[in-house]
Amino acid sequence: MTERRTEAERLRDRFAERYGSWALVAGASEGLGAAYACALAERGVNLVLVARRKALLDEIGEDLRACFGVEVRVSEGDLAEPAFLKTLPSACSGLDVGLIVYNATQAPVGDFASVAAEDLMRVVDVNVRAPVALLRAFLPRMTVRGRGGIVLMTSLAGNQGTPRIAAYAASKAFTRVLAEGLWHELKNSGIDVIACCAGAIRTPGYAMTAGKDAPGTLDPEQVVEQTLRALGRGPLVIPGFINRAANTFMSRLLPRRAAISLMAGSTSSLAPAKETKGRS
Ligand SMILES: NC(=O)c1ccc[n+]([C@@H]2O[C@H](COP(=O)([O-])OP(=O)(O)OC[C@H]3O[C@@H](n4cnc5c(N)ncnc54)[C@H](OP(=O)(O)O)[C@@H]3O)[C@@H](O)[C@H]2O)c1
Repeated sequence: MTERRTEAERLRDRFAERYGSWALVAGASEGLGAAYACALAERGVNLVLVARRKALLDEIGEDLRACFGVEVRVSEGDLAEPAFLKTLPSACSGLDVGLIVYNATQAPVGDFASVAAEDLMRVVDVNVRAPVALLRAFLPRMTVRGRGGIVLMTSLAGNQGTPRIAAYAASKAFTRVLAEGLWHELKNSGIDVIACCAGAIRTPGYAMTAGKDAPGTLDPEQVVEQTLRALGRGPLVIPGFINRAANTFMSRLLPRRAAISLMAGSTSSLAPAKETKGRS
């Protein structure tokens, strides 16, 4: 009798074959990062979850083990700290880490000169330095294996200068360009690279600053599903029809100065994020 496999089982097998049995999700304790962890566990991938709030990571790990039977390891620490970054490759030694999702972000809101200098430097540390260091540490092993994947989170805000989140937006431009370069460099090495250029997403981080949904706001699960399905199909995915239309309008039709002014209008009401435990 022919074995009838469900679509979910086929997806799971294809994914594990392509990306190996372990993934590292950096910034996994809530919101989008937690949704990535869940979607990867559903595909049968074991997980290394990284963030500062260990209690949240432990809770997510317990749920994923119970629901999907995957192994989950938790690595608690601050990605802005070079010393912590250095521990991650050895924390993963012996694990077949074939997929890296870099989701963590630092996004201080406010006019540049009024944001604490330390918070601005953390934008560079968390959004720029840490993904570069992590990818440099993990890519050689993936290249030897001849398969793997990298998912980097970027934002429509990074397509042009964005007042009141200027440093964050600039770091997201860096991320997109990094992903595009790596996509081409690695495309014959069996390693898929994608930048997910998201519009607004209903995450705790977004809710803290925006307060209400912008047009085209998506749930984390929608963003994750569209991104994982697009992995291997090109250097960039923009989840959501409205966001794709906004991207075309802002980057191809509007003069750049007008695009910057439009972004200024949409960030003028953003509130500086309140402190949460583990966040700086
Ligand atoms: N939400 C949106 O509307 C939106 C729109 C466009 C793009 N994006 C992109 O999507 C990604 C997710 O953004 P989000 O704000 O919605 O966040 P999120 O996925 O809800 O959470 C951010 C995660 O990063 C972790 N993190 C932050 N700083 C860290 C650090 N220094 N060390 C270790 N972990 C750290 C946080 O955990 P701990 O606090 O426990 O460390 C948390 O798990 C970001 O890359 C962002 O640029 C989001």
